Amino acid sequence: MSTNTTDNQRKVTTRRLAEMKKNGEKIAMLTAYDYTTACIVDQAGMDVVLVGDSAANVVCGHSTTLPITLDEMIFLASCVSRGLERALLVVDMPFGSYQGNQIVALESAIRIMKESGATAVKIEGGQDIAPTIERIVSAGIPVMGHLGLTPQSINQLGTYGVQAKEDASAEKLIADALALQQAGCFAIVLEKIPATLATKVSKTLEIPTIGIGAGAGCDGQVLVVQDMLGMNKGFSPKFLRKYADLNEVMTGALQAYISDVKSGDFPSASEAY
Ligand code: KIV
Repeated sequence: MSTNTTDNQRKVTTRRLAEMKKNGEKIAMLTAYDYTTACIVDQAGMDVVLVGDSAANVVCGHSTTLPITLDEMIFLASCVSRGLERALLVVDMPFGSYQGNQIVALESAIRIMKESGATAVKIEGGQDIAPTIERIVSAGIPVMGHLGLTPQSINQLGTYGVQAKEDASAEKLIADALALQQAGCFAIVLEKIPATLATKVSKTLEIPTIGIGAGAGCDGQVLVVQDMLGMNKGFSPKFLRKYADLNEVMTGALQAYISDVKSGDFPSASEAY
């Protein structure tokens, strides 16, 4: 399938993502957490930008995604939103902003949409959360689901390892995916599950799947921008492809700056007024 220039310049919508799945065109999704990065990611041609709650880790330095608040997510998302012209903006609903009851969830989703400029929200969970998703979708808010490794449940899961490896948990994941599709999700993130299972889910569903550590059979892929740019030296899981070594590039640049300041080389006469 080939896409023309008009297609590539068109603002990405949830409908466009459905078309992409139908046409066998893969969906490229990446996180962003600030305006400058969002501008670069958008201009590079990304289809979907996610303000994920992994911001709790890579922006705020927390060891889990649990502490980040709805206000913090909205602040980050509003910065990212100002940098996007083409990509579809999805914002994670953080831990505690939707699990309580459907009204709380709807109010949280509405706040994200009104205050950040997002086009959609993302929610972790399967059949248990499907009625809540249905409620949010019925308010006109597109919802992306998230199955497999759901980091907000780390205290229940007890591991960030691969999920749904056993037959029973794989069957449950398929049932969860169908429930999310039925509830009105426009796409589902599949995180850290066996590639064969992700392929089966992707073939079963009409809506697109976006994989992270879920193999090539998904309809699209997502990574965290700091991870794929190699900013965090110590983070090298199997699924991660590093497209740059910004840790090294930044460290080199920073050390050169320090050295120039200390030696008096910076600023030079041509860098002064
Ligand atoms: O928060 C996040 O970065 C995510 C991706 C891993 C999909 O949810």
